[in-house]
Amino acid sequence: MRPVEICPNVYWVGVNDRATGLFEGLWPIDNCGISYNAYLIRDDKTALIDLSKEAFTDDFVDQISKLMDLSQLDYVIINHMEPDHSGSMTRLRALAPNARFLGMAKAVSMMKDFYNLTENVEVVKHDQTLSLGHLTLRFIFTPLVHWPETMMTYLEERQVLFSCDGFGAYGALNGSIFDDEQPDLKSVEAEALRYFSNIVAAYSKNVLQAIEKVSAHPVSMVAPSHGPVWRSYPDRIISRYQRWASYAGEPAEPGVAVLYGSMYRNTERAMESALQALRENQVPIEVFNVSEIDASYFLPSLWTKRGILVACPTYERAMFPAMLHALTMAEIKGVRHKKAAYLGSWAWSGGAKSVFEDFASRLEWETLGAVEFNGSAKPEDTEAIRSLATRLAEACR
Ligand code: FEO
Repeated sequence: MRPVEICPNVYWVGVNDRATGLFEGLWPIDNCGISYNAYLIRDDKTALIDLSKEAFTDDFVDQISKLMDLSQLDYVIINHMEPDHSGSMTRLRALAPNARFLGMAKAVSMMKDFYNLTENVEVVKHDQTLSLGHLTLRFIFTPLVHWPETMMTYLEERQVLFSCDGFGAYGALNGSIFDDEQPDLKSVEAEALRYFSNIVAAYSKNVLQAIEKVSAHPVSMVAPSHGPVWRSYPDRIISRYQRWASYAGEPAEPGVAVLYGSMYRNTERAMESALQALRENQVPIEVFNVSEIDASYFLPSLWTKRGILVACPTYERAMFPAMLHALTMAEIKGVRHKKAAYLGSWAWSGGAKSVFEDFASRLEWETLGAVEFNGSAKPEDTEAIRSLATRLAEACR
């Protein structure tokens, strides 16, 4: 894509990544890609906000070169040092030797750690402004959205918030960059939620603090570093992030996320009884086979649903490994304060139930019960499972 002027003298100069299968080596994006958005401001002075991943440096440099001679660049604003935004830094340093690289103190130390870049760098302060001539940038420190050195940059005269990872979404930009040009904004929001739950949910408290800081300024446009530029509905993406982040500390939406894994279908058959009882009690459910689906896709459900049902057998005196991984990802991502229940089969030794209870304790899940059964579920086991699912449903409506 060619550069796009998002408002007078301000240009999107991002690139699409349709080659990477796993973002951060973890999260599947092979079906949607991702964009690395960067922005160029041309005023009396020129400023580039954020960069790109190293593998896309040629495309990125080509984008900027369509608008200016890089050797004349005055400032590079580093909102965040994760290499999906800083990977082209070494090349930019060489092409723009006079540019000053600005960031938080931690960002400046990371410039040395990652790229041995120490010259012509400058630490900025929270709320510090930088005049480019007619336009003014203000730096708003938003640590841990997503790393400790992360800040947002606000263009005062245009009320544009360059929010980096904040308010971002998975998904390459298919020929258009603005929210009102997307053919299906609901699918954009679904990818924003997947991105949120995968990347920044663990720092929800910081997301809420960032939104509080940003609220001191009128925002007419949200220009993140991943996904569309929100020029028509900036409040919409901010309020979505605010709501999702609030679930870290308060009950989420009615419903139960059901995670299951099964070796010979004994646990799966028992789970069917639980699903039926949940639906008979009018609670929305989403069901995921943890042996088949990546954590990236069930984390949004775990995050936004009030309850969690874990259904898996014991495996070698411990928990079924695919479920162990699923719950480990839930713990890493801070899925806390849920109503939870467990069911599962064992053959000659139990073990999964106590692993579940350890997770539940650490994650401050309120456990409504656990039913484990030897081999296949007998009628009395099925009744106990239906009763447990009914209690879970009542707690999650
Ligand atoms: Fe898009 Fe935390 O990097």
